[in-house]
Amino acid sequence: MSHKIAVVGSNMMDLVTYVTRMPAPGETLEAPSFEMGHGGKGANQAVAAARLGSQVVMVTKVGDDAFADATIRNFEANGIDTAHVTRVPGVSSGVAPIFVEPSGENSILIVQGANAHLSPGDVDAAAEALKGCDLILMQMEVAPETVYHTVAWGQANGVKTLLNPAPAAADLDVSKIAAVSFLAPNETELAILSGMPVTDETQAEAAARSLIAKGVGTVIVTMGSRGALLVEAAQTRRIEPVSVTPVDTTGAGDAFIGAFAHFHASGEPVFDALRKAAAYAADSVTRRGTQKSYARAADFAALQEA
Ligand code: RIB
Repeated sequence: MSHKIAVVGSNMMDLVTYVTRMPAPGETLEAPSFEMGHGGKGANQAVAAARLGSQVVMVTKVGDDAFADATIRNFEANGIDTAHVTRVPGVSSGVAPIFVEPSGENSILIVQGANAHLSPGDVDAAAEALKGCDLILMQMEVAPETVYHTVAWGQANGVKTLLNPAPAAADLDVSKIAAVSFLAPNETELAILSGMPVTDETQAEAAARSLIAKGVGTVIVTMGSRGALLVEAAQTRRIEPVSVTPVDTTGAGDAFIGAFAHFHASGEPVFDALRKAAAYAADSVTRRGTQKSYARAADFAALQEA
């Protein structure tokens, strides 16, 4: 039986400059190379899940420029349903200037552009498509009201939801996302959402439990190269990192979430789905680019067997 995932979220054009180091204020510095690619946390998660074999429907907004056409073509090329990708006249598409250092670490600026126009009405317009989904993914590169509305819609319609609260938003109203089935913050986002310090795993677990006490179903704390923590009402488990030499870490968190969504929606228990997602994300950092670095199902399966 085929499973289906929806993403109510962002898309961006990633403008990636590979630098030897970041310039100081006022300094002009030559950088060795530049690449453009499709990104945006929502689109990245959608593409990861689609490449692994999920049916994916994307609810997003593009602007009134050449990036919009390229973005729609990219969704189509990845087999993603674009019936709910709509254009905003007179507005730019989302763009993300990104700087990647030799260590693979990245710094990202985002311009939301058309993404800021994704509204609760767009979610209602996609209701029929969303009703057939196993899981709806969200991030914070669109208006918070749209995220709040989608969480409430999922609860009212019995569809599971996952919020990746990135980028961190200090003004996020926790009471309006508390009905989410899965919350997947990094440590910084968890500290902001819980109002508690998160400097080690003990604190991360306590902060995650404070959110579960407010109604959140399951918290998945992503810890970068240190793996992840699965915090459920009944237990806490650690997802060990998969060790690789990073080339470009951009979009690794999105690869992790998209892959988790795929494996969990296809019937894997949460912990097993997270372990596979960690392997999928680790593989992605060994290649340059965001979506460009995401493996297809056959290549990932071969990697797992090796
Ligand atoms: O998570 C990585 C993504 O963040 C990039 O693709 C960029 O577009 C920003 O949204």
